[in-house]
Amino acid sequence: MSSDRRRQIVFVSDAEALAESAAERLLARIAQGGSRPAICLTGGTSPERLYRRLAEAPYRGAIPWDRVHWFIGDERFVPAHDTLSNMGAARRLFLDHVGVPAGNIHPVATDAGSPETAARLYEAELKRFCGHDRLNAKPLFDLVLMGLGRDGHTASLFPGSPALDERVRWVVGVEQAGLAPFVPRVTLTFPALASTHEMLFLVSGEDKHDILGRALSGDDLPASRAHSDGDLVWLIDRSTGVENFDARSATG
Ligand code: 6PG
Repeated sequence: MSSDRRRQIVFVSDAEALAESAAERLLARIAQGGSRPAICLTGGTSPERLYRRLAEAPYRGAIPWDRVHWFIGDERFVPAHDTLSNMGAARRLFLDHVGVPAGNIHPVATDAGSPETAARLYEAELKRFCGHDRLNAKPLFDLVLMGLGRDGHTASLFPGSPALDERVRWVVGVEQAGLAPFVPRVTLTFPALASTHEMLFLVSGEDKHDILGRALSGDDLPASRAHSDGDLVWLIDRSTGVENFDARSATG
């Protein structure tokens, strides 16, 4: 259950406004992020419009691409150029079009042999980047983007998975996905995702109506267990059919 000091729920009119608002928040976090801001991206369809937007004016010219580092919160265990790859999608939609130095993109090594090996390599990569191996030291990320699956999963943390209870490791392999695409996954764990100045959920589409209501009310779903050491923001497009939410009824 969320114990976040600062959960905010922000409603926007449509998918375009969601992308715009997320882009503004991302820009603000980069501006506050010091010399080497770190952004953790998410997969799925909800961030696609945001990703395209980042490659256009005014964001394209405003983001210091040479300084920002891009990570992924979860990855499908498929080759880097497969259309199912989450980092592959981020590359196609913006990273490959804006002149990001190769070393600033941090993909999961899906050629590593197994999700477990790739998870260990990614954890080592995160530790190398942040220069420490304790999650309660300085936050790993400036911004972590998250999605909400129709079964309440977030990242590749599916209902009933042992990965939900992981407290020590930063990244784990997930042999069985709970929802399509049914390919093995690699996912950051809750404590690693929480190590951020801001966690930003992007939720769009009427198919999310029921699960969103449950997540916001604090039902025991993976997405409601996600927490942040900094701010936790749910950015919601009104096309979900959820127009407002009375925080007093929330248990999170
Ligand atoms: C993935 C994800 C996943 C996603 C949600 C929401 O690899 O599938 O990272 O957690 O964010 O399933 O996906 P949609 O935005 O497509 O609804």
